[in-house]
Amino acid sequence: MWDDAPLFPEAATELAGQVDALYFFLCALSLFFSVLISGALLFMAIRYRRRPGVEATQVEGSLKLELLWTGIPLLISLFIFAWGAQLYVKITHVPADAMDIYVTGKQWMWKIQHPQGQREINELHVPVGETIRLTMNSEDVIHDFFVPAFRVKADVVPGMVVTSWFKADKVGEYHLFCAEYCGTKHSEMIGTVYVMEQADYQQWLSGVEAGLTPVEAGSRLFEELRCATCHNEDASSRGPSMLGAFGSEVPLEGGGSVIFNETYFRNSIMNPSAQVARGYQPVMPTFEGQISEEQMLQLLAYLKSLKTDGGER
Ligand code: CUA
Repeated sequence: MWDDAPLFPEAATELAGQVDALYFFLCALSLFFSVLISGALLFMAIRYRRRPGVEATQVEGSLKLELLWTGIPLLISLFIFAWGAQLYVKITHVPADAMDIYVTGKQWMWKIQHPQGQREINELHVPVGETIRLTMNSEDVIHDFFVPAFRVKADVVPGMVVTSWFKADKVGEYHLFCAEYCGTKHSEMIGTVYVMEQADYQQWLSGVEAGLTPVEAGSRLFEELRCATCHNEDASSRGPSMLGAFGSEVPLEGGGSVIFNETYFRNSIMNPSAQVARGYQPVMPTFEGQISEEQMLQLLAYLKSLKTDGGER
């Protein structure tokens, strides 16, 4: 009877087990104190009930007791904080050797681009045991990429590029949800993640027609939009070179610096004059309205592929 209504979603990543462990600990802790407090309440209500001939006495404070009931909860809270924080850091830090999957949310579907050029909608095929980095953006409103079995949940906010990751260690089919109300058909913005054995995955890849890879498509865009007119390696170029730019620290006009990450990348295209690299003029026009969100991810893929050691990786 409960097969269709499990209390907990399946756990298909190592991280899922760790998230659950913390959750179970919190539940057990709450249960322990609920029983302790209500038990004590009941016991004292009976033991110290009003009886004829017994006068109540006023009890004044006790330093020892107060230190105890402040100290113990403090230690427990700090323990939970430390546990939760290290888990949070793990969840938010994408491991370096990850396979890139690009996801664009739109009312009401998930559009997915594979590194080898395959595309899918509301379906995501991945190999088991491989770290997948999700680079995501939205075409319209806030969506939320949620795969309960992976304990992966990330808000996909318009105007931003967000990253998340997972490493599925169990072959199977898992629900993909949009977990942020995004309009009429929000409840239909669902899909399936297929975690496959390497061999099956390779077979799947070869069975789906591949278009340009995100890097190739981004490279083409870079040409079509004439980015290289200014962003080249000439000493007199009007914009900074993009070779090895991603991930580097960019000193800014007017002081300070930023890390060239997904956010800086996006802002620089949509609002170029906001953070101008030191030594350059704010001459770049905005490309707002000229690049779709999917193209934005392709350009990003291309920029990330530009390494200083001899061009593309
Ligand atoms: Cu997209 Cu809810």
